[in-house]
Amino acid sequence: LGRNLHYHDSVESTQKIAYKLAYDNAEEGTVVIAEEQIAGRGRMDRKWHSPKYTGIWMSIILRPKIPIPKAPQLTLITAVGVVQAIEEVTGLLPEIKWPNDILINGKKITGILTELQAESDRINSIIIGIGINVNTGIEDFPEDIRTIASSLSIESGKIIDREILIRTILEKLEKLYLLYLEKGFFPIKLMWESYAISIGKQITARTLTGEIKGKAIGITEDGVLLIEDPTGEIHNIYSADIQIEG
Ligand code: BTN
Repeated sequence: LGRNLHYHDSVESTQKIAYKLAYDNAEEGTVVIAEEQIAGRGRMDRKWHSPKYTGIWMSIILRPKIPIPKAPQLTLITAVGVVQAIEEVTGLLPEIKWPNDILINGKKITGILTELQAESDRINSIIIGIGINVNTGIEDFPEDIRTIASSLSIESGKIIDREILIRTILEKLEKLYLLYLEKGFFPIKLMWESYAISIGKQITARTLTGEIKGKAIGITEDGVLLIEDPTGEIHNIYSADIQIEG
């Protein structure tokens, strides 16, 4: 990953650039990185705040030959790779909140956004966007997210070398991706579960159609979250915001 690397000073969104490159048949493993995004995108049509020089804003193009319903697996693989890299470079202990938030001390450090380019029912490419608050100061965050967001430097008390972290992420991700292509998702699912905070806890999942409360009992092979409600019924959650109740 990253042998073909597009570096930019300021962009609207690395995700948008990678999407175009993928459409023009950029090679697998192409990476787009920017120092600043003026229209960074988050999940569920939210904005992703990406101030200059403070974070890692990057998008990676992958072309796995997998059926479309398995695409969320790539998000989980990415989360594992980013957690491993953060652990190695900073010594901090990040946790994953389903589907793809990485938290430290309960605050969000990283978001992952996966977008698909498909033709009929075949995946052409998967564009994985990774946003990491690295050396962001608390005053750099918009006021409304200061209580829920944080950065690696705030949590570790040190300035983190972004270049080393980027290189480590690409190394870890490449290893996991090759393992995935060779052995399938199962070994990565186990790693993901070992970092996950929501499994085994009472949670509330807010989906586009309503709220489901119950115990998070695990994820499926396709990365779908399973919730058991108080009547014992199991719900498959494909997309939601979750809140951990205890
Ligand atoms: C989330 O909502 O948690 C996902 C945030 C993803 C942000 C990254 S930063 C690089 C890439 N470009 C974007 O515009 N978004 C993703």
